[in-house]
Amino acid sequence: SERSFIMVKPDGVHRGLVGDVIKRFEQRGYKLVGIKVLVPSRELASKHYAEHDGKPFFPKLVDFLSSGAVVACVFEGKDVVKTGRTMIGATNPLASAPGTLRADFAVDMGRNIIHGSDSVESAMREIALWFNADELATYATATQAWVYE
Ligand code: GTP
Ligand code: MG
Repeated sequence: SERSFIMVKPDGVHRGLVGDVIKRFEQRGYKLVGIKVLVPSRELASKHYAEHDGKPFFPKLVDFLSSGAVVACVFEGKDVVKTGRTMIGATNPLASAPGTLRADFAVDMGRNIIHGSDSVESAMREIALWFNADELATYATATQAWVYE
């Protein structure tokens, strides 16, 4: 089943939004298979955002991500990568549709509270970067048959 890397960034943790973020994915029917809290090193933050290396906002982005605790999650389920991005909203919270996480909880592009993988390939790379294989749980939920036909 498809997996996505979803992370509450330091602003979301400081603001006490961890539960709100996880709640949205849980209530949609996605299964939490990995979760941890950590303060990322600058090296880990740089690797995570490697695609942006060289852009003017990259140093600030790495400083910010490594400035505090994040909650790194892996969610699993049908179309979770693309649907997760839809639930998160646009990079700029002011351009995000109402009802998305960024529209409901943020106003500033550099403080948009949450990260979500942008493709299945990115998800696989990011999950391998942030988690060891033995930190991901394989299990069936009791409600599975009521979420999936
Ligand atoms: P992530 O889920 O965090 O990867 O966000 P995203 O996929 O919506 O955006 P993207 O990967 O393009 O950029 C990563 C992060 O860098 C964004 O979430 C923003 O916080 C920040 N960022 C992106 N573009 C800009 C920009 O033009 N200026 C500034 N200051 N920050 C930017
Ligand atoms: Mg991105």
